[in-house]
Amino acid sequence: MFFRQYFDTESCAFSYLLADKQSRKAVIVDSVKGQTELYLNQLKELSLNLKIVMDSHIHADHITASGLLKKETGCRLLQGEPSYSEGVTDTFNDGDLIQLDALGIRAIHTPGHTDDSYCFFIDCESRPILLTGDTLLIRGTGRTDFQNGSANEQYHSLFEKLKKLPEHTRIYPAHDYHGMTESTLREEFEWNPRLKVSTKEEYIEQMKKLNLPKPARIDQAVPANLKCGIE
Ligand SMILES: [Fe+2]
Repeated sequence: MFFRQYFDTESCAFSYLLADKQSRKAVIVDSVKGQTELYLNQLKELSLNLKIVMDSHIHADHITASGLLKKETGCRLLQGEPSYSEGVTDTFNDGDLIQLDALGIRAIHTPGHTDDSYCFFIDCESRPILLTGDTLLIRGTGRTDFQNGSANEQYHSLFEKLKKLPEHTRIYPAHDYHGMTESTLREEFEWNPRLKVSTKEEYIEQMKKLNLPKPARIDQAVPANLKCGIE
């Protein structure tokens, strides 16, 4: 499997390019509009054929490149249910397998940060990979105070769904603000302060107390992302 991570310095967002090495069919997850040229150049230079673009959820802090990439390459634009955006080709649900030849990506619905949040699990060889969106960050978890977020549901997603995956799974989030790029589930369940709770109620209380400022670009980003970034 081909795997690459990109970082957008403006929004501290990660995006991911994955491909089946043999057929060169590729998927981009959590693209950032300002990096469209970078993705297109990479696809060309690496002789990859973009077949799918998809996001882990409707982002509030940056605009997705998914609509533009679809327009430029003719690829499919997938979104998890509940799907709210215009321009989506197909939707997927919890447990669905998104297949590109030998590359299989399992969609895991992990509501909490938003109601449309998904994680993507790739069971590759001995080193499974999980793209965690904003559900599980490195030493953090995504806030739950807007876009139909729910600390109650997020607790369930983290402890009933993600914790049941192999603990050596490498995790790759949609954001990092502290210079980290990857972790493992084992490491997060040992060191992530948000996961150091003994009950669901404790988790909900902790999220309630965060008192975070409104994301700077939410009023621009969410409406744009409801059109897959095509303004
Ligand atoms: Fe988010």
